[in-house]
Amino acid sequence: MCTETDVLVIGSGIAGAAAALRLARDRQRAITVITRAWDPEESNTRYAQGGIAARGPDDDVDLLVEDILAAGAGLSLPPVARLLAEEGPPVVERLLIDELAVPFDRRDDGTLSYTREGGHTVSRVLHVGDATGAAVETALIRRLQELPNVTLTTGVTAVDLITSSHHSQDLHAIYSPITCHGAYVLHRQTGEVQRLLAPATVLATGGIGQIYRHTSNPPGARGDGLAMAYRAGARVINAEFVQFHPTTLAFPGADNFLISETVRGEGGRLLTPDGRHFMDAYAPQWGDLAPRDVVARAIHHEMLTHRYPHVLLDLASQMDAPQIRERFPTIYQTCLDAGIDITQEPIPVVPAAHYFCGGVHADAAGRTTLRGLYAVGEVSCTGVHGANRLASTSLLEGLLWGQRAGHDIASRSDLRPVDPDTIPPWAPASIHGVADPVLLTRDKRAIQNVMWLYVGLARNTHRLARALTELDHLWGVIDNFYRATRLDDNLIGLRSMAQTAWIVTNAAWHNRQSRGAHYRQDAEAEHFASFHDTEGPLPNSVSE
Ligand code: SIN
Repeated sequence: MCTETDVLVIGSGIAGAAAALRLARDRQRAITVITRAWDPEESNTRYAQGGIAARGPDDDVDLLVEDILAAGAGLSLPPVARLLAEEGPPVVERLLIDELAVPFDRRDDGTLSYTREGGHTVSRVLHVGDATGAAVETALIRRLQELPNVTLTTGVTAVDLITSSHHSQDLHAIYSPITCHGAYVLHRQTGEVQRLLAPATVLATGGIGQIYRHTSNPPGARGDGLAMAYRAGARVINAEFVQFHPTTLAFPGADNFLISETVRGEGGRLLTPDGRHFMDAYAPQWGDLAPRDVVARAIHHEMLTHRYPHVLLDLASQMDAPQIRERFPTIYQTCLDAGIDITQEPIPVVPAAHYFCGGVHADAAGRTTLRGLYAVGEVSCTGVHGANRLASTSLLEGLLWGQRAGHDIASRSDLRPVDPDTIPPWAPASIHGVADPVLLTRDKRAIQNVMWLYVGLARNTHRLARALTELDHLWGVIDNFYRATRLDDNLIGLRSMAQTAWIVTNAAWHNRQSRGAHYRQDAEAEHFASFHDTEGPLPNSVSE
């Protein structure tokens, strides 16, 4: 089966949806949005709790730029950070507030309510209770579904990008710059693989958290987009910078449910299990609201040094019970279901993999190094986040870059449809053996354990070397498994995870300097001056 469309958008989170919305302004243009999920709202965006950075009452562009650059530990690209700070908040206002009427929380006088999160010097984060991403995603998808020129299809997994050099039957195509013409996509219900051809493809597949044993990310965050782009020859940068969220629920079966940074923004304090407040010792100037990398490592350090299974986040003594229930209804209910009443007692928390600061290199318009391929949102690396992302800038970046990519594609006349006859149908490696669920689960666990133990919050040469050896072996095993088995969504995900884990580890291996979210115990770390000044060197070993 071969289908042609004007623009293919892979992923229906905030970045993909924002791109599609912008492109759909021209009613002659056909936009196809696909998502592997069955529910179009299922994406990383849906799980973003805290909010979206905008422009608060005591705020200005320069202040937000400074905060982004400070969190980014010297690696954020200043002009790109400025672009986000200048253009992002007006898009929030125009698209999310005025056009889509996202019900952001307001104060009694009707004005918008802004909160603070780690690394922000002022209150500027808009929120919808503690389920901001879900509210934004619902509004975006509802609008997309109303548009006659947008086809939004669920249960469709992208298998591989189609490029001239890799797939064209014209032998000489290999001598031209790599051009993306769409993707081979698997219809999960029927098992059929389709050629979905488009002169412009927008990769908006989200993050990679599932490569770690503990993550705040949903099951779809497997690195599919990153792995596809890498195989197609796109430039991938900053892959060692995986951000760990400091506070996820430490409770059996809670699946590292996120405890939003806005809990600390509203006064929550981190304590050791014996009640000692510790963040001032690690980051005197910021305390509990230090940038995420610093807080995550401080917790990690406390847990290792004192053998704590977790630390505590106390909100009960800072906010009264009705206020907690109103401001954090999802967190309140989820913790209550786990037997923890957060209006009465502190929350046990541990860090977990949360956000990928690296990705497919994309410029200010979302263009990648492949012709016709755009990358937006978490799968991309625009340079905004540098070595560590400032809280609540991910939705903002996805929204702005989605719109900018849509605008750029709309303005181009040089991207032409490929002749469908030059692109062969998908050739299945095997139509026989069904993927054995035991092997799928075991291999997935193996990747997650390697990444958690050896490529986690604290890295060193020995662990990274071990990880590379084990991942090389796993890649061989998994690639063989892939080639000998009938294609399905889980198999595609497993292969993406193996490749993504290797990309992250290889980047971590080559970067011998600690910076931001990439902390190497065997390197000098200028960014951790406050750690070293107050606490002495970090421990040399992690025991799990
Ligand atoms: C949170 O609410 O803490 C997560 C928000 C983000 O990742 O920026």
